[in-house]
Amino acid sequence: MAIISDDNNFENQNLKQKNPIIKTESIEYDKTFENSIRPKTFEDYIGQSALKETLKITIEAAKLREKPLDHLLFYGPPGLGKTTLAGVIAEQMGADIKITSAPALERPRDIIGILMSLKGGEILFIDEIHRLNKVAEEILYPAMEDFFLDMTTGKSQTVKTLRVPLPKFTLIGATTKAGALSGPLRDRFGIIHRLQFYTIEELSKVIKRTASILDIKITEDGAVAIAKRSRGTPRIANRLVKRVSDFALIKFDGVITDEVANYSLDILNIDEFGLDTTDRALLNLIIEKYDGGPVGIETIAAALSEDVRTLEDVCEPYLLQAGFLQRTPRGRKVSPEGYRHLGKKVENVQQSLF
Ligand code: ADE
Repeated sequence: MAIISDDNNFENQNLKQKNPIIKTESIEYDKTFENSIRPKTFEDYIGQSALKETLKITIEAAKLREKPLDHLLFYGPPGLGKTTLAGVIAEQMGADIKITSAPALERPRDIIGILMSLKGGEILFIDEIHRLNKVAEEILYPAMEDFFLDMTTGKSQTVKTLRVPLPKFTLIGATTKAGALSGPLRDRFGIIHRLQFYTIEELSKVIKRTASILDIKITEDGAVAIAKRSRGTPRIANRLVKRVSDFALIKFDGVITDEVANYSLDILNIDEFGLDTTDRALLNLIIEKYDGGPVGIETIAAALSEDVRTLEDVCEPYLLQAGFLQRTPRGRKVSPEGYRHLGKKVENVQQSLF
């Protein structure tokens, strides 16, 4: 399976506007840290069990019928393995995959260029698909539905529409915000799935797998200690393994035990629930300055000098899931659990005004 991408680090693609069109040279799958530990098969992919089981059946059926897979949409917080899963699906289908993200598809010719370069059965992965602009979306509709590109040539009175056939491909879209996707685009996906946060047990497995690939020594308790502070997110777990292994090497005897993990993560300001300085600053701000809330996300972002999107996509999903934050029609509120977690008195918390 060849992986073709315009960037190894998909999260940074919105910064890369200069050459948004996908490059056509193949890149090695193993270039970055994340790629080197990415599972490539369902057997190696830990967690998301229900989704994996249905995907295996869908893939086998598509293979038996010799048809491309239906278009798939994966949504959920960042770092849960949407891109990884797309790679696993491609591997299982024996198909090539082209990887891009919506911010890289600014001009009509970007999306047209990619669609025209696809081969039969190939998978096109578009990350952050909720950020696709209207024109790109409208180019995608007939491509997804009937495998055609509707092109116009000429101007005003002489304008002609041309239907250009495309090879049958599968689009895999990924988004952190399913709600921000337009209805017509969402309707064109045959399979829509939410990725779930990982359990401590699943994260421990991810951590042990990563440690073994990177030749890092870790005990069972060490893996669990890191898993507990990884916010249900394998990408965070994998980063923490690396950080903690530095401490293990320099300050201890090289082995990650629970003592080593807890010592290192305390120093890194990652608390026992995995909250970092920004998460705690967010909760503290709402409590101290806004009496626990509700307060609008823009106000919070301005006060913390953070980007609204980072707060919404990265901080909030886990704070909501952990029960520290509540979303109300009038803004965000810190829950009694949030107060307790920060060691603050709960008595001022008002009931939610739904
Ligand atoms: N690394 C990142 N995500 C993973 C997963 N779901 N399974 C195994 N290793 C991973």
